[in-house]
Amino acid sequence: MSDPVGLFAGLAGYLEQGISKVEGWLSPVTASMIAHLLVGQSLHGLRGDVCEIGVHHGKLFLVLACATLPEERAVAIDVFGDHDKNLDCSGAGDRGIFEAHLAAYAPGAEVEIIQRSSLELAKSGFLDRRFRLISIDGGHTEAVVANDLRLAERTLLAGGIAALDDILSYDWTGVLSGLVSYLAGGGTLVPFALVPNKLLLSTDTAVAERGRAAMLHGFPLAASKRNLEFLGGRVDSYWEHPYYSRESSAGLRLQIEDLHRQLASAQSEAERLRASASWRLTAPLRRVAALTRR
Ligand SMILES: C[S@@+](CC[C@H](N)C(=O)[O-])C[C@H]1O[C@@H](n2cnc3c(N)ncnc32)[C@H](O)[C@@H]1O
Repeated sequence: MSDPVGLFAGLAGYLEQGISKVEGWLSPVTASMIAHLLVGQSLHGLRGDVCEIGVHHGKLFLVLACATLPEERAVAIDVFGDHDKNLDCSGAGDRGIFEAHLAAYAPGAEVEIIQRSSLELAKSGFLDRRFRLISIDGGHTEAVVANDLRLAERTLLAGGIAALDDILSYDWTGVLSGLVSYLAGGGTLVPFALVPNKLLLSTDTAVAERGRAAMLHGFPLAASKRNLEFLGGRVDSYWEHPYYSRESSAGLRLQIEDLHRQLASAQSEAERLRASASWRLTAPLRRVAALTRR
């Protein structure tokens, strides 16, 4: 088994040092919260790719990329220099700067870059992909946001999470309009938490409950209000809190230490099982199963 702390060392390093050097729009606390949710998914055995629509210079995308395990891929979608496709001038992605940041802060991650508008994705095989987390931060008009939420709904794995940027921003009211339009059209993603500048949604109510519990467990000092009414559902709200800031990264370190302990205990349990009589007795059966799979 690879060293779990080593696996996430790049993530901690990026949150502590790299993130402040990358231009973009992201609260450090929100970055830490999304990192925790990603590490939590790995802890609970959820494996799958991650994706961001609208990466700009990669400020949040690098969190996603640094949290991937070796068999997972991070998919970046942006119109970059195709400015005519950036209908509302939300950000200005730059592929050169983005790729330089990838090389500097996530050199080991497997990254795929798709230079397209998200409006073109449904027709290009994108719906066959599966993700465990999607960040939606591309075009901020009602039509684009509703489109991107539908893409997320159709590509998220059960247990997956979507993060929608600028949900309550005065300047980008198309985002809230897009969410309302998506839900009115039968959208099934379930909002569960408001974090600084983003709304977190999940694939169903059970996953939403687990997400709320994970947020409360990981960020108790940032929790503000619970069970707020929100478009027919309930969300918990979270504010900035210095304990979880980039400078201390205390919360993130605790989560990584947790991961280390849990993987170590899983490893010793596997060794104990292998040494046991029942493991030896079922060995022929496992060999047949492996042959059948091949
Ligand atoms: C607000 S910025 C993203 C910020 C980024 N998530 C970060 O962490 O800093 C929005 C990005 O979306 C891109 N974009 C705009 N419209 C898009 C569309 N329809 N499809 C894909 N990307 C789009 C822009 O080029 C820009 O890079």
